[in-house]
Amino acid sequence: MKPTVASFPRARLRRTRRTPALRGLVRETLLSPDDLIWPVFVREGDGVEEPIPSMPGVMRRSVDRIAEAAREAHALGIGAICIFPYTPLEARTEDCAEAWSPDNIANRAIRAVKAAVPDMAVMTDVALDPYNINGHDGFVVDGEIVNDRTVEALVRMTLAQAEAGADIIGPSDMMDGRIAAMRDALEAKGHSHVSILSYAAKFASAYYGPFRDAVGASGALTGDKKTYQMDVANSDEAMRLIERDLMEGADMVMVKPGTPYLDICRRARDTFGAPTFAYQVSGEYAMIQAAAQNGWIDGEKVMMESLIGFKRAGCNGVLTYFAPEAARLLNG
Ligand code: PBG
Repeated sequence: MKPTVASFPRARLRRTRRTPALRGLVRETLLSPDDLIWPVFVREGDGVEEPIPSMPGVMRRSVDRIAEAAREAHALGIGAICIFPYTPLEARTEDCAEAWSPDNIANRAIRAVKAAVPDMAVMTDVALDPYNINGHDGFVVDGEIVNDRTVEALVRMTLAQAEAGADIIGPSDMMDGRIAAMRDALEAKGHSHVSILSYAAKFASAYYGPFRDAVGASGALTGDKKTYQMDVANSDEAMRLIERDLMEGADMVMVKPGTPYLDICRRARDTFGAPTFAYQVSGEYAMIQAAAQNGWIDGEKVMMESLIGFKRAGCNGVLTYFAPEAARLLNG
C-alpha cells in the first residue's frame, strides 16, 4: 500500500484515536447480529435442555426447545440457525439410513423452526458422522472412506433437508464432487431456491473435540479425518477447494476452524469476492469459556474481539456458539 499521509510530526495517527466519536468515524468494520449464524444441537425428548460439559453454556435441546430458542434468537436479530443432531445410539448404523429419514431429529427440528419463525433462515449440516457407527463423515469400506458412494448418500440427505424446509444446505463432509451433485439434485427436484453454503476449506483440526462430544461422535471415531479434511499446513489448496466449490454451484463458502485460519478467510475473500463465512468452532469457544471461567481473561471482551476479527479478515458472517450472547451485547 502506498503511503497516503505525511510522516511524523505532521502525521500523528493517535489524533483519530483520541475520543470515542473519532474512533467511531474511522472504524473500518462493524459486527451486527445479522452477521451471525447460531449452531444448535438437537436431541430427542420434550422440554429437555441438557448441558454439554466441554462447551459451558451450550445445550442439547429437544425439538420444542429448539423452536423456542430460535424464536428468541430471531428477536435478537440473529439471521440464521444451524441445526446439528445428537442421534440416539440405536439409530446409528453402518448404512447411515437415518441420515435421510424425513423424520430424523434434525429434519423434525427444521420443520419446527420454520413453523415457529418462518423468517429465520435454517441451515443444515450434511455429513454422515452423526449417523455412522464409526464417527466418520463418509461410508467406511475396508478401512477407507469411500467418496462416490458417500456423495450419493449425501444427496439423499440434502433432499430430505430441503423437503423439511431448510434454506441453506451446509455440506461439511469434504468429499469430492458433492456440491455439483447436490446442486443438480436440488434443481431437479424443484428446490432451486435452496442455497448451499459449502464447508469448502475445512481443516483436519483438533479444535473439533468438544463438538464431537456434543453430537456423541468422539468415543465412536476410529482413526482421524485426514484423508478428507485438509492438512492444517495448506493455504493454496484451500483456494483450489473454494474455487472448485464455487464452480460447482456453491452460493457461499466457509473456512473452518476460524481464528487459527484468518489468513485463509482474508485470502478467500480477496481472491473470489464470494460470500465468505468462518466457523468459530467448539474448541475455540471452549478455550475462551474456560479461560473466562478461571478469571484469566474477560470473557465478553475476548468474545467480541474474536468476532470482529472475522469481519476484519473479510468474512461476511460467522457461525458461533456465542451468537445469542454477542447479539445481546450488540443490541445494548
Ligand atoms: C462433522 C462436523 C464437525 C463440525 C461440524 N460438522 C466435526 C468434524 O468434522 O469432526 C465441527 C464443529 C465444531 O467443532 O464446532 N461433519
